[in-house]
Amino acid sequence: MKKRNLITCALPYANGPVHIGHLAGVYVPADIYVRYLRMRGRETLFVCGSDEHGVPITMAARKEGCSPQDIVDKYHSLIKKSFADFGITFDIYSRTSSATHHKYAAEFFRKLYEEGKFIEKESEQFYDPEAKVFLADRYIVGTCPKCGNEGAYGDQCEKCGSTLSPEELINPHSKVSGAEPVKKMTKHWYLPLNEYEPWLRQWILEGHKEWKSNVYGQCKSWLDGGLQPRAVSRDLDWGVPVPVEGAEGKVLYVWFDAPIGYISNTIELLPDSWEQWWKSPDTRMIHFIGKDNIVFHCIVFPSMLKAYGDGFILPDNVPANEFLNLEGDKISTSRNWAVWLHEYLQDFPGKQDTLRYVLTANAPETKDNDFTWKDFQARHNSELLAIFGNFVNRAVVLTHKYFGGCIPEPGAFQDIDKEALAQIPVLKQAIEENLETFKFREALREAMNLARVGNKYISDTEPWAVAKTDMERTATILYTSIQLCASLSVAFAPFLPFSVEKLNRILNVQPLSWDDFGRSDLLPVGHKLNQAELLFSKIEDAEIEKQIARLAEIKAAREAAEAAAAAAAAPKSEPAKEPCTFEEFAKMDIRTATVLAAERVPKTDKLLKLTIDTGLDQRVIVSGIAQYYTPEEMVGKQICILANLQPRTIRGIESKGMILMAKQIDGKMRIVTPEERLTNGATIG
Ligand code: 2FM
Ligand code: ZN
Repeated sequence: MKKRNLITCALPYANGPVHIGHLAGVYVPADIYVRYLRMRGRETLFVCGSDEHGVPITMAARKEGCSPQDIVDKYHSLIKKSFADFGITFDIYSRTSSATHHKYAAEFFRKLYEEGKFIEKESEQFYDPEAKVFLADRYIVGTCPKCGNEGAYGDQCEKCGSTLSPEELINPHSKVSGAEPVKKMTKHWYLPLNEYEPWLRQWILEGHKEWKSNVYGQCKSWLDGGLQPRAVSRDLDWGVPVPVEGAEGKVLYVWFDAPIGYISNTIELLPDSWEQWWKSPDTRMIHFIGKDNIVFHCIVFPSMLKAYGDGFILPDNVPANEFLNLEGDKISTSRNWAVWLHEYLQDFPGKQDTLRYVLTANAPETKDNDFTWKDFQARHNSELLAIFGNFVNRAVVLTHKYFGGCIPEPGAFQDIDKEALAQIPVLKQAIEENLETFKFREALREAMNLARVGNKYISDTEPWAVAKTDMERTATILYTSIQLCASLSVAFAPFLPFSVEKLNRILNVQPLSWDDFGRSDLLPVGHKLNQAELLFSKIEDAEIEKQIARLAEIKAAREAAEAAAAAAAAPKSEPAKEPCTFEEFAKMDIRTATVLAAERVPKTDKLLKLTIDTGLDQRVIVSGIAQYYTPEEMVGKQICILANLQPRTIRGIESKGMILMAKQIDGKMRIVTPEERLTNGATIG
């Protein structure tokens, strides 16, 4: 077994607060793992920080009308606090705008540049001719060719999920100025990933068959598709400046600089010993990420490290998770479809463990999963509270009631006691095996199974009833129950740190060690417990309904905005017709007339038969206006007609002429009528 564990978590973009999707996919599993490693006494370093460069940041700045620095300052603090509030125990949470990071990322680039590891290439890139800036794909918007969404980005349509390129957009325009982008030559540096392909195939496809199937599968499909050189610089004014001559106005591509953040954050924490962690074959590196980051952590960053050489280690494993949805819909920062961690804590103060529990129990480990508020409530009330909390409370309260809070000397153990205690090492092993292989949901299920064992044991043995007749037996039952409580304090420690802290307070113990977990005598006879306090309080229906109502409001507002945008974007009128000559127009005899009688044409929905006075004669016109006017409404109306249209026979009725109607794009029709009543037969032209 390697000596050290270097655990990294994807650096979240500091362009918004963090939400449950972040926690479920990356930070809670990583924290569970790290807590477990530490409990086992394995040397561990847990590194993370904010990703403060790239287009997401500049877009947020533009949206909020401030500078990118303002944005990252605001969100870095908020994100850092949220992680601390949820008990994520990073050894360092720094940021890629730090001086250390800028310096080290630039050095990293310069070394590769000087060693000729990059290809220098001029190519045409999209450019905004009005704002005079090159445009990242995200800055180009237009109509999605697949679903017609008018707000699709140059890299993706968020409505239908299609991956796009700016060339595919219909009516592309710059998000900066609205101008149509043009192509312009510019120089960039590329990492020739194709040169690393044979090595990557060997390293991943042959050497890491144990990686999760979603990770391995994605790598295989990238490698089978053939790797291309990848640009590692961008024309942008926000980021780490490219540290070579002739690179003014260019910065490192965010996906080049961000993973280097793992290294520079380690340097910031351990300036003298960071290389022990990054360059020793005795270090095992694990990247916790979401599935959208797989290619960068399994292919791009390892190729960068390989290119750099100098003993840098590569990841041992990359246990990427799939995505978490919220109430059946994709979580999205831009659409405000999320449960934000800082808001959650305002609504559910002190209930960090509930969220950690629900997100782990329902973790998107092998497929996308859904978070629902009803499931959240059910898991809290019927699992955490009804099983774990209830068991601990009964065991501790009864020990106080019958033995003054001191662990009693047990009598002879019966089978039921032995069977319950025998479950401890069995479930410990199951928890361990699952944690070692990154199966956190299963591991948590086994921990909860231990609570189930305890809860069933105390229900079946009924110490409150036995106490009426047999105190020795009561002592054995409560001794056994308290040992089970102590085991739960270890079993749940990686998952529910806040509740375990409370439990340890109740049990009056310092954190118990993983190595001791499995024993049936964790606490000695005579050990004094503290007073019971509830580990979990009930979550009421009203609290859940409030959350559901909040989401419904957000959804309704979004749908209304989308409908308004669609209406605004919809064409307002029919396209213009071909020009006609004055002579052609003058041929038309248009005049006023009055409807004398009107009736429906039998067996039709649309037709009215109108008898009209044209000033020249009385005649009949059949008109398709029955959907818009009743016969009664038409009688007496002054209308305009094309009087010299060739007569036509419609449903056996000769129709002489046509009524002038105005028709909107949505099909609505109204008759055209003079502003005030004129004599019939007045000519119009
Ligand atoms: O997807 C993201 O949120 C990125 N900011 C993750 C970066 S991970 C790393 F490489 F820094
Ligand atoms: Zn689309």
